[in-house]
This record gives sequence, structure tokens and C-alpha cells, in this order.
Amino acid sequence: MVILGIETSCDDTAVSVVEAEKGIIKVLSNAVSSQIKLHSQWGGVVPNLAAREHLKNIIPVIKAGLAKAKIKPEDIDLIAVTQGPGLIPALMVGNSVAKTLAYIWQKPLLGIHHIEGHIYANFVHPHPTLYHRERGSGGEGKIKFPILCLVVSGGHTQLVLMKKHLDYKIIGETLDDAAGEAFDKVARILNLGYPGGPAIAQRAMEFPISPVKASGPRGFTGNFQFPIKSKLQITNYKLRLPRPMLNSKNLNFSFSGLKTAVLYLVKKNPKILKNKKIISLVCSEFQQAVVDVLIAKTLKAAEKYRPRTIMLAGGVSANQELRKQLKQAIKQDFPNTSYIIPDTLYSIDNAVMIAAAAHFRWGKMNKTKRKKAEKNWSILEPSANLKLV
Ligand code: KG4
Ligand code: ZN
Repeated sequence: MVILGIETSCDDTAVSVVEAEKGIIKVLSNAVSSQIKLHSQWGGVVPNLAAREHLKNIIPVIKAGLAKAKIKPEDIDLIAVTQGPGLIPALMVGNSVAKTLAYIWQKPLLGIHHIEGHIYANFVHPHPTLYHRERGSGGEGKIKFPILCLVVSGGHTQLVLMKKHLDYKIIGETLDDAAGEAFDKVARILNLGYPGGPAIAQRAMEFPISPVKASGPRGFTGNFQFPIKSKLQITNYKLRLPRPMLNSKNLNFSFSGLKTAVLYLVKKNPKILKNKKIISLVCSEFQQAVVDVLIAKTLKAAEKYRPRTIMLAGGVSANQELRKQLKQAIKQDFPNTSYIIPDTLYSIDNAVMIAAAAHFRWGKMNKTKRKKAEKNWSILEPSANLKLV
């Protein structure tokens, strides 16, 4: 079946066309118009500005998506749109357009949960079977349930257990900031711009510290001396940020204290902002603190629920350190568990993941439900706080 996917929940106007059959998703096009430049001036996404941009871009992006896929409206079998959660003014644009197209073209329409989309990005790959064989230990070429998925995006940090397709149990989540939100806020404190994740990851690469070296007393030991002359001198600074809830008994997270620790560090040592090497050190330690907590909680959940597959999802899953270190940890502690990560192209917001999730939803629907979906153009409503069920 050919699915048109539309995603406008935040600051990307994204449209995709996929051809999907029996769980194999072939991407025919993945068109994205990013608004990063516009929002970076404000240090974050401004909902009404985002909506205006979506309105301006949505039709050209749809045209581009269809043209790239060499697909005409009559070839489309299903339209899928992000229904929520997200910014309401932004969601309204995508939902209005999707409803209009479904009405005019007489197509069934499905509203998809944004996080469900992120999770199903793991099922999109040019060769999903081969991918699994290479990376997983099962060898059967199928992603096996139960799946434990670590969802890490700008708005969510959750551990989700899936016993079967479209069946979600949230077994842990952040009590305050999401991981991506912490990256964005810390980047703002360090004047690194928006979005913070890629900027911090880039800086951290300039000053890699091993998790072993990072152990030691919390806080910032050693006085800054400017100018910094050698790398060794920085290594001696032994920056140690907190790892909130690392050892707590439950599977929840908290990142706001970590962000505040960076804020106080900079307030106490304002010269940090003028020194690129120290900024890299702070980025490196901050990133490692987030990665440490995410990995520790994922392993704790794996210990308890014994999944056959562990997956990553959401924008922060583009983080190379997280991808690499989680892989090592799983290999060491759970060698019989497969580890699946989305292509980085589908880690951050995109519409391919929305179409992919719609394929699996459609597959579970009976005739009556599919017939009902033909009338969704009249009833679908976006929801800012849509729940994952
Ligand atoms: O999933 P996403 O694109 O949008 C939401 O659903 O929120 O995630 C965006 C988040 C932002 O907070 C961004 O800073 C973070 O993902 N992000 C990263 C990286 N790339 C994007 N965080 C850490 N490392 C990255 N490489
Ligand atoms: Zn997202």
C-alpha cells in the first residue's frame, strides 16, 4: 500500500510517501522543510511562528514529496497525519491539510501519535531484515517482542514496554525536563544556539572524556586559570556534574537538576563562556551525565522485564555517544538481546515514521474500522496532550 505521511507537530514541515507491505517499509520520499533558522533567533520554538511557517510550506512540501516519489494522488491508499502531542497551532495546519486532502481525494485518514511514529522509525530501513541479522543476535530476521524502547525527544523521556505491535506500557518517565529539553536548555546557558542536542554533541566531540575518568567527587574541583594553555590542564579540572536519579529504585528520570548544575557552574565561573575548550569540557561531561542515566535506567528495565529487543527512539537517539555506549552496555549485560536503532535520518522529526506507524495500525484494523477511517476527514481533531495507548 502507498501511504502519504504528514508531520507538523513542532518546527519541521515534513511529508513522506512510503510503500509498505507486511511490515516492510520502503521509503519513496522524505521531504522536510526545517524552521531551525527562524526559531534559533528566539532560542526555542515559537508556536505561532511555527504555524505560520507550516502554512507557508505545507503545500510545496507535499508537492515535493509526491514528485520525488513519482506518485499521483490516485496512487495513494492511505493518508496519515500526526494528531499529537505537540504544539496545537502547528498540529492544526497538518491536520487541516490532511483532512482536506482525504476529503477531496476520498482517502482513508489516520491520526498518529507522534511518539508511536518515533518508535516505528525503527521498522524503517532499506533492508530491515538484513539490518536485524547483522546487529541482533536472534538471526531470524524479525524484530522480536517484547520490545523495550527508550524514547528520548525534546518533549518526552520514557521507557516503553511493548509486548506486541501497538501495545504500549510506560514503565518509566521523566519527572521534569525531557532529555532533549535538557540539551536545549544547557545549550542556551552556554550560548550554543538551538537546537541544543547537535550543538552540544559537536562540542563534546572536541573534548571526549571517558566515563571512567568522569568518576570522582561531584562538583567542580580545581580553579580556573586563564588562559588555558594545554589540554592536560583542562583534564585536571575534573568537572563532575550530577547524575540525577541514577541509583533510584524506580525507572523514572529527572534532568532539571543537571541543567541547574550547569547554570550554577556558569554563574560562578562566567569566564567559562569565553573559553571554547572549557565549554567543550562542560558539554562533554553534561552529555556523559545524560547518557549515564539513560543507559543505567534502560539496563535496569531490561533486568526487570527481560525484553528480546531494545530500541532507541526520538531526536536524542541521533546522539552518537548514546547509540554507541548503549550498544556496548547491552552487548555486555544482555548479549542475547537485539539492539535496534533508527537511521539517524529518521531519529529526528520526519513524516516517514508517521506513515510507517500508520501501516502497522492499518494492518490491525478490520473492515469496519477501515471503512470508518474513510470518514475521518470529518472528525479528526489534533490534541496537544494525546496519550500513547
Ligand atoms: O524528536 P525530535 O526531533 O522532536 C521532538 O519530538 O521533540 O527531538 C528533538 C530533540 C531536541 O531537543 C534536540 O536538541 C535533540 O532532539 N537532539 C539531540 C541530537 N539531535 C537532536 N540531542 C542530543 N544529541 C543529538 N545529536
Ligand atoms: Zn519528535
